[in-house]
Amino acid sequence: MTVAVVGSVNMDVVARVARIPRPGETLLATGSSRGGGGKGANQAVAAARAGGVPAVFIGAVGADGDGSALREALIRDGIDVSGLATAPLPTGVALISVSDDGENAIVVVSGANAAVDRLGDDQRALVAAADVVLAQLEIPLPGVLAAAEARADHAAFVLNAAPSGALAARDTAARVLAVVDVLVVNEHELRDILRGTGGDAGHELEAAVDAIAARVPALVVTLGAAGAVVAVGRERRHVPAFPTQAVDTTAAGDTFCGVLAARLSDAGRRPDADVLADAARAGAAAAALAVARPGAQEAVPTADEVAGLLETAS
Ligand code: RIB
Repeated sequence: MTVAVVGSVNMDVVARVARIPRPGETLLATGSSRGGGGKGANQAVAAARAGGVPAVFIGAVGADGDGSALREALIRDGIDVSGLATAPLPTGVALISVSDDGENAIVVVSGANAAVDRLGDDQRALVAAADVVLAQLEIPLPGVLAAAEARADHAAFVLNAAPSGALAARDTAARVLAVVDVLVVNEHELRDILRGTGGDAGHELEAAVDAIAARVPALVVTLGAAGAVVAVGRERRHVPAFPTQAVDTTAAGDTFCGVLAARLSDAGRRPDADVLADAARAGAAAAALAVARPGAQEAVPTADEVAGLLETAS
């Protein structure tokens, strides 16, 4: 069993601020830090720390110090980085403001992530050997579609459609939905996709879920403190959130997705609603632990921590 994550890896440069700055405003930070980030790499770390299944990361860094540091960090987590290419571009950087109430605002400078617009033969072979393939939208769309195409017949293609801006364009949303086995989105991303498929993005949540659930085999919508909704065909499950004290919500969604994918590694291409809800519950527990800590990859909990929370909550 293997989970292959195809996506971005960034050096996160974080400023702690009292609140997120308004347009045109300059704020003085109360502190700063640097750490491993990128939606793809964060999800690979979450899948690896979930335990029980080896994780492979496929992406690109630059030939620079940040690239080496990020590669080493993934290796320390036991992740197979043989599909992590070195591109003739600087390593991706994310400029992140985190407010005192844990909210964030993120600007990504893609750099080497832009080179993941196709997969090389070795990268395709890693994808083809995986039981679950997990991707996001922080790399070019052709790279995402290449990952979906390269997966084995039995393997689920799980797409976390974040960031979702590109999917508000009509053709793009339809092309992406056509290759997905499990779609994971937050409410904002759900509405972007609805807009991209010609639907009414102002629908009530339930109607929005129904509209997109009709277009993919399985859908998970994360709702922050309200938990998550799992939709498979006409089946619906609500997964409650775990209480937490938010320090930094960066990578909460990534943690959810990585743990969910690891839990689906033996579920095959079409997980049913109960299997998906179980996986989402573990993802929600991991995300609750992650938001209580600062940082992205450094905040991702271990399998023991997640098991502990699941046990105390049951
Ligand atoms: O989802 C959080 C991530 O988004 C950060 O780690 C940052 O790198 C951006 O990719």
